[in-house]
Amino acid sequence: MVRHYISTQDFPKEELLRLIELIGLLKRADKEGACPKLLAGASLGMIFEEPSTRTRVSFEVAMTKLGGHAIYMRPGEIHMGVRESISDTAKVVSRMVDVIEARTLKHQTVVDLARFSTVPVFNGLTDFNHPTQVLCDVFTMLEHAPAGKKLEEFNVTFVGDATNVCNSLMMICTHLGMSFTHAAPKAYQISDSTKAIGRANCEKSGGRLTVTDDVNAAVADADFIYTDLWWWVGQESEIPDRTKAFMPKFQVNAALLAKAPKYAKVMHCLPASRGVEATDEVLDSAQSIIFDQAENRLHTEKALLVYFVYPRLKQAPQALVQHHEGLVEAFLNA
Ligand code: CP
Repeated sequence: MVRHYISTQDFPKEELLRLIELIGLLKRADKEGACPKLLAGASLGMIFEEPSTRTRVSFEVAMTKLGGHAIYMRPGEIHMGVRESISDTAKVVSRMVDVIEARTLKHQTVVDLARFSTVPVFNGLTDFNHPTQVLCDVFTMLEHAPAGKKLEEFNVTFVGDATNVCNSLMMICTHLGMSFTHAAPKAYQISDSTKAIGRANCEKSGGRLTVTDDVNAAVADADFIYTDLWWWVGQESEIPDRTKAFMPKFQVNAALLAKAPKYAKVMHCLPASRGVEATDEVLDSAQSIIFDQAENRLHTEKALLVYFVYPRLKQAPQALVQHHEGLVEAFLNA
């Protein structure tokens, strides 16, 4: 059976922790200029229905560093969803590549791609979640863990709109037994159905989930304060209402950061609207770890690619390769 990476909910805690450990191994190898070429000759198909900087660059560079090759299929450049069904696209592309990464407008599209693909499919962000981002985020938190604290003791506070990243971060944190707080105006809080996933996670993991509009209380014991855009493409008409709801109370600025512990770190998945959901002063402060987070996307994608693709690659013995080379050379020389 082919395994896909569509949601962190599909994996037990131990497996997510193992993936996070693998990110560390591959980051250390990279820092020593010794990234293993474990995916030599393999291909990654990258389908993007929306623009991307980090996801696109990190997956393409990761594949190159591992010895493979990535093909970028930009919005509107392939037939999927227009002249060709999602199922046919999945069946065709997966006969040619070893793994597919897809950023899709609708979550159901990536689910359908996975259903019909014969190779692993990675969710590169949908309107519901962003599992590659949040695996990277937990790794980044561990790199910046407050002294003496274990993962299960981390307090993560997300300030702002209940975005796909917010949903995903809530799911991975509660799954791993951490405390997660979402601080937002009532109309922009995590939906009841998504909260139900988090509450079920907490029952199993011992984690905690709080959703509140009291942002000062939410940051008071935060180890990590995370924020994201207040609006996305297609929500432009809502900008006045959203600005009114979030500004200034839910902006991550120096005044809000002063209410958190001094060791609290600031995170943002990026891109950021500087001066909107967070100020320059905070994003560029010593407490900000946003660029470590961005770099760690690269190491995370390497770990995901190796973990899902390497065990599936056929490793033909050199003698077999030479045998086929000989057959083709003999044919061409006949
Ligand atoms: N954080 C993130 O996914 O960034 P991109 O939209 O640039 O890929």
